[in-house]
Amino acid sequence: MNPVEAAVAERFAALAVNPIGERRFPIGPSSAKRLGYPPAEIDALPLGATESFAGVGNPFALGELHIGQFVLDLGCGAGLDSLLAAQRVGPSGRVTGIDLVPAMVAKAKANAAALGLTNTDFREGRADALPVASGIIDVVVSNGVFNLCVDKPAVLAELFRVLRPGGRLQMADILLEPHVSPEELAGKGEWSD
Ligand SMILES: C[S@@+](CC[C@H](N)C(=O)[O-])C[C@H]1O[C@@H](n2cnc3c(N)ncnc32)[C@H](O)[C@@H]1O
Repeated sequence: MNPVEAAVAERFAALAVNPIGERRFPIGPSSAKRLGYPPAEIDALPLGATESFAGVGNPFALGELHIGQFVLDLGCGAGLDSLLAAQRVGPSGRVTGIDLVPAMVAKAKANAAALGLTNTDFREGRADALPVASGIIDVVVSNGVFNLCVDKPAVLAELFRVLRPGGRLQMADILLEPHVSPEELAGKGEWSD
């Protein structure tokens, strides 16, 4: 793992175990509701799924999921989007959540178990080397993850590999603004702020 990734992993491991310690970006159920998720859906999830939510938008606003679809949640964190996707695709569908941070993967698994979901599968892995077979995914959802990835073309190539022909990517993310200085950009740790 390079130093930038190590800093990102450390940051999100802390968010998994101690969400109330996060002060630098909006997290949790109130953030999800502000970003347009239906409040009733958020309130029906276990606190463990919503307290570490760190998404920056609502990828489901970009298109409907359908019963039986196979979904990949890239950088799933504690699993909020994975759980909502699993409810939408039903028992004949499947949701695979991938995250760099073992504590996030463990939390997502616990949240799926708390909901009694049998169509989810959470794995530790890197976005640029996905532990997923080729050509099996109908929809990739991703929320707040691309901005953290060092080699973005490699991540896109991996998503292209795992998607079925005609599959799609629904992502929410943030873009670098001109006022961010090169020093901030280069600083280890600032990548994840
Ligand atoms: C801003 S959080 C968003 C988590 C989740 N999507 C959500 O909406 O709550 C970014 C997540 O991406 C994961 N992540 C960062 N870089 C990654 C990479 N290269 N490969 C896989 N996961 C990564 C982090 O561990 C973290 O859980």
